[in-house]
Amino acid sequence: MDESGKKWYNGPKAAAEAGLRGSGTKMLPRFQRGEKMKKAAFIGTGNMGSALVRAACRALGAENVAVSNRTPSKAEELARETGCQAFGSNRAAAESAEYVFLCVKPKLIRGVAEELADLLPGRAVVSVAAGVLLNDLQGWVGEDVPVLRIMPNTPCAIGVGMTALSGGKTAREKHFTDVEMILSATGRVERLEEGLIDAFSAVAGCGPAFLYPYIEALADGGVAAGLPRNKALRYAAQTTLGAASMVLETGAHPGKLKDDVCSPGGSTIAGVAELERHGLRAAAIDAVLAAWKKNGQLGK
Ligand SMILES: NC(=O)c1ccc[n+]([C@@H]2O[C@H](COP(=O)([O-])OP(=O)(O)OC[C@H]3O[C@@H](n4cnc5c(N)ncnc54)[C@H](OP(=O)(O)O)[C@@H]3O)[C@@H](O)[C@H]2O)c1
Repeated sequence: MDESGKKWYNGPKAAAEAGLRGSGTKMLPRFQRGEKMKKAAFIGTGNMGSALVRAACRALGAENVAVSNRTPSKAEELARETGCQAFGSNRAAAESAEYVFLCVKPKLIRGVAEELADLLPGRAVVSVAAGVLLNDLQGWVGEDVPVLRIMPNTPCAIGVGMTALSGGKTAREKHFTDVEMILSATGRVERLEEGLIDAFSAVAGCGPAFLYPYIEALADGGVAAGLPRNKALRYAAQTTLGAASMVLETGAHPGKLKDDVCSPGGSTIAGVAELERHGLRAAAIDAVLAAWKKNGQLGK
């Protein structure tokens, strides 16, 4: 570590190119003021942070991405994998970038925001933390720092995520478009007023867990009808993907798309009638409402 406590690691290839040897952090140089700023720094490289880093590296090029983590080896490992730069302190990572993404657990975000507050002017902060309000974040980082909030879901990790983006009173159009660009390889990103984030989260954040059992159940039905398990699961998952793509790409109402598949007196309408008899719609609506109510309680 150098005298400022700042160090970085950006993978063996880059280290070799820079004339450095070994993978320890001791011999790694610090980020220099005056060096070209990176676009985004991600503080916290856990499940969501690392998924966002991988996507940002794809969207921006790894040379425009910085990371740091409480356990530095995790950030270094991610840097080795992606080619981005790992820093040995949150402050060094934040200092290197225009956009500072806070990807730590909600209860830790205030401490990290306050640790960085004095170097944030001139940068923008993006919180990933569920339930942390923009107004609170604004108070911790300072009134002039543009703050934004994102709510990603787990499919972001493979580029088919759904993310909501809200901005505080200091966020300008440029900040929205920059964050949309940084996250462009995560899947869809849509602007949403902060007051609707809990509802969004109940549909898109919790939604995968509501759909996985449904896919599994479709496959169970297939197995009951004689299909091998692996085939049944693949058919069920690909069919779910296809149905979702039809809704998104045709823009048609799902009721119409369902009607189009149901021929009079046929097998599909017989199956649809069973789903209705077992209350599929009511179960899905109640699942989203239960998650939404819980989200509201967690945020308090
Ligand atoms: N996972 C999701 O599906 C999801 C969806 C939407 C939003 N989010 C939000 O994303 C945030 C992160 O969640 P997660 O699931 O990714 O949690 P996680 O896997 O536990 O990751 C959190 C990371 O933060 C690091 N960390 C903790 N304190 C730190 C500090 N002071 N400085 C730097 N790094 C620090 C941890 O480091 P260590 O390695 O030392 O533990 C860990 O790697 C949460 O606020 C959550 O609400 C998550």
